[in-house]
Amino acid sequence: MPNHIRINKKISPFNKTIQVSADKSLSIRTVLLASQAVGISKISNLLESEDVLNTLKTIKKLGINYKKKKNLYEIHGFGLNGFNPKNNTVINAGNSGTLGRLILSLLIKTNKKIKLIGDKSLSKRDFSRVIKPLKLFGANVESKNNSLPVRIQGSEFLRAISYKENIGSAQIKTACCFAALNSPGTTFISAKKSRNHTELLFKHLKIPIKVKSNKEFDLIEIKGLHQFNSFDYTIPGDVSSSAFFIVLTLLSENSKITIQNVNINESRIGLIKILKKMNGKISFKNIRVYKGERTADIFVKSSKILRAINCPSNLNSSAIDELILCFLVAAKAKGISTFKDLGELNQKESPRLDISIKVLRMMGIKVIRKNNNIKIYGKPKLELKGNYYIKNFLKDHRIFMFSCIAALVLNGRWLIKDKDSINTSFPKFINILKLLGANIN
Ligand code: S3P
Repeated sequence: MPNHIRINKKISPFNKTIQVSADKSLSIRTVLLASQAVGISKISNLLESEDVLNTLKTIKKLGINYKKKKNLYEIHGFGLNGFNPKNNTVINAGNSGTLGRLILSLLIKTNKKIKLIGDKSLSKRDFSRVIKPLKLFGANVESKNNSLPVRIQGSEFLRAISYKENIGSAQIKTACCFAALNSPGTTFISAKKSRNHTELLFKHLKIPIKVKSNKEFDLIEIKGLHQFNSFDYTIPGDVSSSAFFIVLTLLSENSKITIQNVNINESRIGLIKILKKMNGKISFKNIRVYKGERTADIFVKSSKILRAINCPSNLNSSAIDELILCFLVAAKAKGISTFKDLGELNQKESPRLDISIKVLRMMGIKVIRKNNNIKIYGKPKLELKGNYYIKNFLKDHRIFMFSCIAALVLNGRWLIKDKDSINTSFPKFINILKLLGANIN
């Protein structure tokens, strides 16, 4: 079976109701927290993608058993620091920055030597962003060049810390929250706003956490060494996976879609806010709250007239995995769009800022870049005719899916490599596109 796809034709108008796969952030967090809870946690509708399967493999290697029963995973935790690995265990986080960074924070007290490795993409990513705070907690954690492999051995001498997280990275914030669980005393984290699933889960699990917010920062206080009980959790759909279908629908002609049961946590819906400002027809139906998390059905209609945006950079973090899709919409909008402070995009599974600009320019879109700020000159009538070959993107799942959406709304003859990259976050992606009528070979 070839590992590339060909798209030679725009998608025809569609009107469908779909469900996307479960949320990846919540899947990884609930599995890791279940591994630290006392008793058997039951997680339904867990995302079965490679990042989450690697999370399950990781806790198993660390001595935590789990069973799958139909749509439910039962995870048997032994409480805080309840891992029991062999000495010199090697953990492979695969492609997942979230797993790699968060697991280190749960190992700061584990009394064995552990080595963390990952795939080619993860091995290029920066781990100093978590190594630095973990060292302050007292962890024995080392790496050459601040990248993988990272070696960690638990310490008896841990302490609570005060830490300022300035990037707006939920992975760094969560690593600090997880490390606080095993540290005596009260940890204070002042974190630039980012997705807050961890804080909501801590509240739900009655872990002593206080959060005060101001405009830009969340001030988080966590009391360590508090055991918590096992829990039940049903994971809602992933708004980051929904994003591809939201944009596909907006940019297609005479189409409508309903995406059922999606997490719409305020800290995750930057894409929707940005697209609404651009005149995108998007609305929420059946809004409900589940264990502190908002979910809804997302309804989207084709939007004939899209306006350019001067995107406020305080929306970047809540749209961090979707910004490249916003660029695609800007390419079809009337006027010149600007996006600022995009440096974090080059810290992802691939240098997403560099690659998305290359793809836009290949499509004939004028993009001016100054440092980490870009201007996109929209062409509402853009219609492609040439050949487009997408390769060398470090198997970044989101670049693959972004390219598929570009092909399906803009025409042209596309060859897109590394189809198996979708297994990282959204294995059903191509099947759903086909269900909507996309012609993909
Ligand atoms: C994630 C946080 C984000 C995001 C990633 C998942 C998480 O990364 O890009 O896909 O689950 O915490 P950063 O926190 O580094 O921005």
